[in-house]
Amino acid sequence: MEPKKLPTSTLLMNPNDFAPVQARHLMQCWSSQKGYAPIPVAETRGCWIHTTDGRRIFDLRSAHECINLGFNHPQVLAAMRAQMEKVIYVTDDFATAPTAELCQRLARLAPGGPDKKVFLSQSGAVAVEAAIKAARLYQYNRVFKSSGTPPDIDAPMQYPYPYKIISRYRSWHGSSAGAASASGDPRRWFQEPFNLPGVVFAPDAHAYRSCFGERSEAVQANLDYFDYIIEQEGGSNKVAAVLIEPVVGSNGIIPPPPAYLQGLRALSDKWNLLLIADETMTGMGRTGRLFATEHYGIEPDIIILGKALGVYCPLAATIFSEKVSRSFDDHIFGHGQSFSGHALGCAAAVASLDVLQSEGFLENVRNEGEYLGMRLRELASRHPSVGDVRGLGFFWTLELVKNRATKTPLRRATEKYSPTLVNRLSEFLLREHQVYIPSDKFGLWVVPPLIATRDELDFVLRAIDAALTLADTELATNTVTTPSS
Ligand SMILES: Cc1ncc(COP(=O)(O)O)c(C=O)c1O
Repeated sequence: MEPKKLPTSTLLMNPNDFAPVQARHLMQCWSSQKGYAPIPVAETRGCWIHTTDGRRIFDLRSAHECINLGFNHPQVLAAMRAQMEKVIYVTDDFATAPTAELCQRLARLAPGGPDKKVFLSQSGAVAVEAAIKAARLYQYNRVFKSSGTPPDIDAPMQYPYPYKIISRYRSWHGSSAGAASASGDPRRWFQEPFNLPGVVFAPDAHAYRSCFGERSEAVQANLDYFDYIIEQEGGSNKVAAVLIEPVVGSNGIIPPPPAYLQGLRALSDKWNLLLIADETMTGMGRTGRLFATEHYGIEPDIIILGKALGVYCPLAATIFSEKVSRSFDDHIFGHGQSFSGHALGCAAAVASLDVLQSEGFLENVRNEGEYLGMRLRELASRHPSVGDVRGLGFFWTLELVKNRATKTPLRRATEKYSPTLVNRLSEFLLREHQVYIPSDKFGLWVVPPLIATRDELDFVLRAIDAALTLADTELATNTVTTPSS
């Protein structure tokens, strides 16, 4: 009998062949599929993607903020190689050194006391789901299991323990049903009307586009409204948790005004709510501190990490304070995932923490981040298309506006998927300057790998300068306002 002919492995394909194959068979995220034309990659090094046709492209989004240490960091690769030879994955009925070490280090390093517990998963969305579920179970345990009796309250209790999650409109927590339901981002509209119940949205704290005006009391007015929402939603009887990104990411890189997060911490305490900080994007040094919450001096009850945590492995963590984790000492933590505690991913994460905590590393991110901010403000002063510059560490954005005086945005939330000038600027940067920034709703992201050198930062700043000249011209000739243009 003729031996069966095996299919050719894609790994052996001619470099010119695999991109069309991928285009034909990979479903690209958040896109209509026609016209998908991925660029074939030969290899990646540091901040750069090398293509098969000899181009060298700077990744200014750090691979969706996952590759904080740049591509192929030798220390991480060495740790992964060594771990791969020992244990890649066993279930959590067994212990492995990297899993134990990662959990211990995260428990100690995250703001708050050291006796925390960590749930490990593979994506930010799953980590968010774990946080929401645990917050609700915590409240259930608190109300029923600890007291032994139902709560003595007058309000109608269709659902007999606090379950509502207060999130904010400018937020993104992931694409799974629960995480998307808890996201204010227009991406949640794709699953409406089937969003999970129990999420209430509050305003965000956006100094440039505050719903509460530009008065100095705007932060207090925002917090007062937040307090009002909690009360009107049933207060301690109905609300379980407040879910925030300490620095809003996908919805515009928005560092909160000073005192805002401390105000939310105080409100959470006042109403007995858990404060959940989703640091999927801001964690692992992105803002110049290991956790963005460190900038604001608050201790959340639950902290979420993802993206850069596993460096090159999908890994996410939901870190529970002692108060929350104790609630599960005698009650079931009703959540889980195959591959939880993946030893290879944990080894990569431990190696990443070694790099981030090495002497001077994060200090350099803070110093170079200030340089970046200073240069971006200088660009904004010369380019009228820039309405606002904001960020910290290596986490910056230039918000583009049709009119600086009126702050007219390039695109409103309801127009998220219509192409605008931002798309054309990202195409221009890639084509003419070898700089990759996936298009954003509002402007240009400047989110380089944390290892980027001063020369590399200057390289991208020159490219952005050229892109902004194009933006100024287009806006002045008014060719950008129609989505179809
Ligand atoms: C703050 C935040 N949380 C959660 C997520 C979801 O992470 P993942 O895509 O790994 O599920 C994201 C992704 O962009 C995010 O920015």
